[in-house]
Amino acid sequence: MARRSLPLLASLALVVAVASAESWLYEKFTTDGTVRADHDASGQQVVTFNLDQVSGAGFNSKEQYLYGEFSIQMKLIPGNSAGTVSCFYLSSGDGDGHDEIDMEFMGNSSGQPVVLNTNVWANGDGKKEHQFYLWFDPAADYHTYTIIWNDKNILFKVDDKFIRSFKRYADLPYPSAKPMTLHATLWDGSYWATEKGAVKIDWSNAPFVVSYRDYSADACVSGGSCPAGSDRWMNRQLSDAELGTVASAESTYMQYNYCEDGWRFPQGLPAECSRK
Ligand SMILES: *[C@@H]1O[C@H](CO)[C@@H](O)[C@H](O)[C@H]1NC(C)=O
Repeated sequence: MARRSLPLLASLALVVAVASAESWLYEKFTTDGTVRADHDASGQQVVTFNLDQVSGAGFNSKEQYLYGEFSIQMKLIPGNSAGTVSCFYLSSGDGDGHDEIDMEFMGNSSGQPVVLNTNVWANGDGKKEHQFYLWFDPAADYHTYTIIWNDKNILFKVDDKFIRSFKRYADLPYPSAKPMTLHATLWDGSYWATEKGAVKIDWSNAPFVVSYRDYSADACVSGGSCPAGSDRWMNRQLSDAELGTVASAESTYMQYNYCEDGWRFPQGLPAECSRK
C-alpha cells in the first residue's frame, strides 16, 4: 500500500496545481444566479450557467478595463433554445450614456439557426447591430469568441475568422473613455430574441445550460497600467485579407445590418454607415 500511495499522492498534487492555475472564475469574477465551476479531465476549468424559471446566471469581472483583447470559448444550449440569450460582453454600467460591446447569441427552435448579435454602444446609443448566422452548430462543441477593443476600432472574431470591424471616426461617438466591466450572462430574452419575440422560451426544456472555458483578458486595467506587449492588440487593425473575411461573412452569413434598416432610421442612417 505504502508503495502505491506515494506516486498517487504525487500525481494528485500535480492535478491540483494545474487545476488551480486554471481556476479563473472566482479569482477574476463575481457571480450571479446558478453558476457551477468544474474541471475537465485535462484540468481546464469549465463554468456552466443554468437558466430556469427561477434564475438565470452570470459572471462579472472584478476589474474594469479600458481597451484590451478578451476571449472565451462557449458551448451553447443544445436543442430548443428559443427565447434564450447567452452573452459575452463589456459594459460601462447601466446609466444613461453608457458604453457597451456585445456578443449575444439569440437562441432558436430545434434545428433553426442561432443568431450571433454583435453590437456597439457609445454614449447610450446602441442601434448598431450586425447579426450573423453561424457556419457551425454552436452547441455541438466549444468555439472561441473574441473582442478586440482599442482606440482605433472594435474587432469581433469567431474562432480564427474576423466577422466585423467597427471603426472609430474622430467626429462620431466611440467607446474611448469609460472603463468597462466584462460580463457573461444567460437570461430569458423571450420578448426579443427569437423571431423578434414571436417564439418564447419553452420551460419544459429547462434548465438551459451554457458552458464557458478558456477565458483570457489581455487588457489595460482602469486606473492601472497596460500589460507588457499590449501593442499587439492596441494597434490591431484588419489586413486586406482579414477585411476579406469580414466581407465574406457579411455576404454569406449576415442576417441583419442596421445600416440597411431605413425603416428604423427615418431621419437617415447613422453617419458611419456612409463612410468606409
Ligand atoms: C430562427 O429561425 C428562423 C427560421 O429559420 C429564422 O428566421 C431566424 O432568423 C432564426 N433566429 C432567430 C434568432 O430568430
